[in-house]
Amino acid sequence: MSAQLVDAFGRRFPYLRLSLTEVCNYRCSYCLPNGYAADGRPRFLEQDEIARLLRAFAALGMRKVRLTGGEPSVRKDLPSIIETAAATPGIEKIALTSNGWKLLDTVETWRAAGLTALNVSLDSLDADRFHAITGHMLFDKVFQGVERALTLGFDSVKLNAVLMRGVNDDELPGWFDYLRERDTAIRFIELMQTGDNAEFFARHHVRTEALEQQLLDSGWVLRERAPDAGPAREYTHPDYRGRIGIIAPYSRDFCTGCNRLRVTARGDLRLCLFGNFGTPLRPLLQSDDSHDELTARIATQLGLKAAGHGLHQGDTGLTPHLASIGG
Ligand code: 5AD
Ligand code: SF4
Repeated sequence: MSAQLVDAFGRRFPYLRLSLTEVCNYRCSYCLPNGYAADGRPRFLEQDEIARLLRAFAALGMRKVRLTGGEPSVRKDLPSIIETAAATPGIEKIALTSNGWKLLDTVETWRAAGLTALNVSLDSLDADRFHAITGHMLFDKVFQGVERALTLGFDSVKLNAVLMRGVNDDELPGWFDYLRERDTAIRFIELMQTGDNAEFFARHHVRTEALEQQLLDSGWVLRERAPDAGPAREYTHPDYRGRIGIIAPYSRDFCTGCNRLRVTARGDLRLCLFGNFGTPLRPLLQSDDSHDELTARIATQLGLKAAGHGLHQGDTGLTPHLASIGG
C-alpha cells in the first residue's frame, strides 16, 4: 500500500486529530465560559465507527493519532478506544489531549491500554487562577495527576497554557522552577479568536513576542525545528530539564508546517481548524465494506486543503469554540 496523504502543497499528513466528544466538564473562559450545552444533534462516533476510521487513515499513511475533545475522558469507553487505536496496524503513536480532571484516577489505565503521549491543559500554576479560568477547584488534582503521569514512561507528557493578558502572562518565573527537574514541556498557546469569544479575545489576546524575549533574556535557546515537529517553537536551557514551547497561530508561516488533519466527534473531516467546510465521513463508517470508498473520499478531500487559514482577516471559519473541534 503506497497511497500517501499529500496535499497540493506537498505537505504530508501522518498525523490525525480525532475528537471523541464535544462535551466538556470545564468552563474555560476562552472556550466554554458557560459550560457545554447539549444541542440534541446526533451522537458522537461509536467505537466500531472509530475503528473503521482509524483503519482507513492508517491505510493512507497516518502513523499518529491524537484523541481530543471536548474532554475525551468524559467518555467511559476511552480506555477501549485507546486499545482500538493501539490494535490498528500502522498506528505507532497514540496521544491524548486532556484537561486533566481524571488523570489521577485513570492515567495508569490509559497507559496500559497503549497511550504513548499525553498533553494536559494547565493554564496557571496558581490554584485560585486555575479556578477562575476553568471554573473548577481542581488544580491540586490535575497537578498531582501530571506528577503521576511523569512516572509512567510516556514518550512525552506536555502541558498547555493559553496565554492571556492580565490573567496568566506573568508566570514565567514559576514555570522556570517547575521545569528545573521535570522532563516535560510547557507550551504557551497564543489565544485564538473563535466564533464565540470575540470580546474575550479583544480583552486578553497578547502576542507571544514579549514572552519569547523574556526567554532569550533568561538564557533559553530556540531549538532547531525537526522536519516532523508540531507547530511549537521549542526553547531549551542547559540548567533546566524541561522545555518551553510557543504556539503562535498568528505568526507568519504557522501553516507552512501543517501536518495534521482533523475529524470531528460526529465524523466530519476538517482540513483545517479554521476551515470553512467539513466532509461527512460517517456514512462510510457504517460497514467494513466501505473501506475503499472511505480512503478515496479522504484522499480527494486532501487535494482541497488550502494553503493557510484566514484568521488574519478575522475569518474564524466554522469554529464557534475549540471544544467543538478539539484544538
Ligand atoms: N485559543 C487558544 N487555545 C485554546 N484552547 C482552547 N481554546 C483555545 C483558544 N481559543 C486550548 C486548550 C487546550 C488545547 C487543546 O486548546 O486550552 O490546551
Ligand atoms: Fe473544556 Fe478544553 Fe474548552 Fe477548557 S479549553 S472548556 S478544558 S474543551
